[in-house]
Amino acid sequence: MDLLAPIPARTLPVSAVAPGKCILFGEHAVVHGAPELLLAIDLTTQAVVLPTRTGAPVLNADTDAREHNAYFREALARGWATGPPVEVRTVSRIPRAAGLGSSAAFAASLSAAFAAATGGIDRPRLAQRAFDVERAAQGVGSPGDTSASVAGGYVALNGGPGDPLWTVTAAERSWEVRRVADPRWVWVVAHSGVGRSTAEAVRAVTQRLAAEGGARRLEEFAEVARDGIAAVGRGDRVRTAELMRRNQELLVEVGVSHPRLEALLAAAAPAAEAAKITGAGGGGSIVALPVPGRETDLVRRLARAGGLPFVVRPSERGAELLGAAPPR
Ligand code: PMV
Repeated sequence: MDLLAPIPARTLPVSAVAPGKCILFGEHAVVHGAPELLLAIDLTTQAVVLPTRTGAPVLNADTDAREHNAYFREALARGWATGPPVEVRTVSRIPRAAGLGSSAAFAASLSAAFAAATGGIDRPRLAQRAFDVERAAQGVGSPGDTSASVAGGYVALNGGPGDPLWTVTAAERSWEVRRVADPRWVWVVAHSGVGRSTAEAVRAVTQRLAAEGGARRLEEFAEVARDGIAAVGRGDRVRTAELMRRNQELLVEVGVSHPRLEALLAAAAPAAEAAKITGAGGGGSIVALPVPGRETDLVRRLARAGGLPFVVRPSERGAELLGAAPPR
């Protein structure tokens, strides 16, 4: 089975699914060109695109969605510019504004469905399109989330010895995306319940790096991510845990922690080999590498501390059409 096969052509109605993601190393620094490691997780978003008789596109029964949902507007503009009005229904298991890739999974699943209904698309172009949607809606950011959602599995940006998947470009730079071997570990993520805007967090960190003369700090993030990509790739848990702790210190230093995140990290400590913020921070989620056999204990501790925990495994499948493969 070719997990990176192109999205084939279909006629409406089309249904697509794409996974969320969790960042292990390098968030924020990746925006400025440093390496990052992510994995697609088995929490997904499904998008169904149907013909409609209404005069305007509809998203989950909302006929004004194009006006106030920038992700929907940009997905339509890039994937359905000349098509007749459609109705889109989505179902998602990914908490929103949580740093777990809900917007990337929306962009990837909807872009895949639109592309199927307009002749199909290969993965490198789908990765670029999903990024273009997210970037236009958000204004800032890297293609890490959308590439993980399109590729599935573990992916590295700007680092690692793995097979190259594609290169994604924005006006100011491009990022090389590569496959990283799956060490077959289970992860636990927990949402703090504190929502935040990725764009605001990225702008705040960018300003802070500029004010501090950020080149040295960026190099520290880059070193941790480079070593982290290698450690995960060779299945070295001890080194991965050390590097996660170091990455967490760097995230605290650039100002993206939050008391609720600190509380979750403290609650996780007895049952985790390491834990850190995942994603933009300032709220959102943490990711923990559980002590083997203590996954349920870890989940209980995080829930008791007020988090919304999930045991996650990598989704080895990226964005795809439903009906073409066994359900997951
Ligand atoms: O949207 P989040 O919380 O997963 O943040 C993404 C990670 C950042 O590096 C902060 C931004 C980006 O686009 O890479």
